Amino acid sequence: MRTLTGIQPSGQLHIGNYFGAMRPAIDAQAAGDCFYFIADYHSMTSLTDAGQRRANTRDVALDWLACGLDPKQCVLWRQSDVPGVTELSWILGTLTPMGLLERAHSYKDKTAKGISPNFGLFAYPVLMAADILMFDTHVVPVGRDQKQHVEMTRDIAIKFNQHYGETFVVPEPRIRDDVAAVPGLDGQKMSKSYGNTLEIFGEEKALRKKVMGLVMDSRTPQEPKPDADKNLAIQLLKLFAPADVAADFEHRLRAGGLGYGDLKKALFEHYWNYFAPARVKRAELAASPDYVEQVLRDGARRAQAVGGAVLQRARRACGLE
Ligand code: ADP
Ligand code: TRP
Repeated sequence: MRTLTGIQPSGQLHIGNYFGAMRPAIDAQAAGDCFYFIADYHSMTSLTDAGQRRANTRDVALDWLACGLDPKQCVLWRQSDVPGVTELSWILGTLTPMGLLERAHSYKDKTAKGISPNFGLFAYPVLMAADILMFDTHVVPVGRDQKQHVEMTRDIAIKFNQHYGETFVVPEPRIRDDVAAVPGLDGQKMSKSYGNTLEIFGEEKALRKKVMGLVMDSRTPQEPKPDADKNLAIQLLKLFAPADVAADFEHRLRAGGLGYGDLKKALFEHYWNYFAPARVKRAELAASPDYVEQVLRDGARRAQAVGGAVLQRARRACGLE
């Protein structure tokens, strides 16, 4: 059973990316047959600075590896190093109804926010379908925001199979309910594009400031808070602290007597310590610049071998060969 997921190099990775996509992907690797890539083509729909893309791509690779991705157990590559995916995207695009793309939430959200859409942004889900279908993927671990894109991939695969004959594996999204939508500093979904993130590898002082600056209500520490489970700091603490510790904080907040300042301090400590081993590993990896490039190049070779064969299957099915 093959697992595949991708992350765009569009900015510093945050704890939403970590819990929604990276952690499940890393947990899956022990079972083998895992394909993970850095979606640099996709990042072009929002980021137009070449140097930034290059730097971000390297950073995302370092982040993945530091967080525990093992290139011996899985394939890690840069999307654009297997360029046949753009050909598959064209092929799939010719079977994708305009209406399907017009209904995409992420496209509608972005245009509603005033982003002036280019063709790439509109066609984004088709390229994502090509990413998934080109590697005979069974399972796609993602956060809830990507569920619709995986469903569109299924629709496109089924349509292709019906029209040109059985060619693609029809994939399933894997969404872990507990971390499907990690809230950001403002309580909305955490996202690079909303400026409400807690980074995985940020600078200590800046991150402490972000956590201590979390906006709470004006109730006094003594007041009981029956809605303690809705508290943002509690929700975030649950991601980092052992279950009994988080439950104890929630209980104290509910009962009254726990101040928001103390709660935020505890949150910061658990968050900071959670990534301490990964921080050490990242610094080690960053010290040997060739290593990351080598991992990506080796990954591209392995991804090409699998993806090239599926692309050929698709080309044959639709009469290009
Ligand atoms: P962003 O919204 O920050 O730009 P991406 O779109 O690059 O993040 O998402 C990369 C992966 O991380 C996707 O699988 C996405 O579903 C997941 N993800 C992003 N934000 C969150 C979040 N707040 N909670 C859970 N998963 C998330
Ligand atoms: N669209 C995904 C995101 O923004 C990134 C991505 C591109 C992806 N291709 C993919 C995720 C294929 C899973 C599978 O998060």
